[in-house]
Amino acid sequence: MIAVTGIEELNNLRRKLKGPTGFVPTMGFLHEGHLSLVREARKHNQTVIVSIFVNPAQFGPSEDFQTYPKDIKHDLEILRKEGVDIVFTPSSEEMYPEDYSTWIEVAGLTEKLEGASRPGHFKGVATIVLKLLNITRPDVVYFGQKDAQQAIVIKHLVRDLNVPVNVIVMPTIRQPDGLALSSRNYYLSKEENEAATIIYKSLRLASKLYQNGERSPVKIKQAMTELIRSEPLVTIDDISIALPENLEELDIVNGQALVSLAVWIGKTRLIDNIIL
Ligand code: PAJ
Repeated sequence: MIAVTGIEELNNLRRKLKGPTGFVPTMGFLHEGHLSLVREARKHNQTVIVSIFVNPAQFGPSEDFQTYPKDIKHDLEILRKEGVDIVFTPSSEEMYPEDYSTWIEVAGLTEKLEGASRPGHFKGVATIVLKLLNITRPDVVYFGQKDAQQAIVIKHLVRDLNVPVNVIVMPTIRQPDGLALSSRNYYLSKEENEAATIIYKSLRLASKLYQNGERSPVKIKQAMTELIRSEPLVTIDDISIALPENLEELDIVNGQALVSLAVWIGKTRLIDNIIL
């Protein structure tokens, strides 16, 4: 495994690579969710590139950029064990030089859900992902369904800007108790981690109601809200039941629907989703 920091160095390496290349962009502090993407990339490509970069541009001014968990030594160790070929760990200075001024905005889609709660977040995500795709030039790039809106935004960006890459979205990996794995779970105390299991429980409740014939997003959201309110450590930020293609809120569920949930547990904001 080669660890590369410089963009020029990665470019030179990339030019020599033959065969299909799979790429997994991450912000590090890796867990089994990230590794499921890495393993899928390993299965289908000759070369696997993983990037680790805590992208300042996708954090709001009062968000957790400064405290975002890091353990680069451990990350490199596990990526080596997974048979990754190249790990790209660029510096902020090289990714965003002082006079940096080009930003990608995927209009419409990014004003909803996470975009509404975190203004500017997807501008930062879309920009860094396009930069990373330009630097690594993969055949396939892997994202997690855990960040459903991010995956939708990136697919849209890739289509709109004719980026020659295949976008694969992999299922959400969870703890045995249902809590979706996330680097931010690290912020939770043991009690909060237990409380956080209400997130997936409420998504499962939505799924059960739907299976029993309920088609009203208002009623499904009401039931989810009641369940989450029974857990005093958890506060709802947003519940949405929307069309997976364009994130338009639904008046009635007929066909596929994306149920997304964002909650606060203390100072930690967690998201999760399921498709009905
Ligand atoms: P990060 O949160 O590190 O996640 C990297 C990738 O892992 C994303 O595609 C995310 O959806 C996926 N992932 C995270 N938790 C997962 C889980 N429990 N199951 C399956 N996949 C999971 O998402 C980002 O970084 C950044 O926004 C990035 C795309 C790297 C741009 O900076």
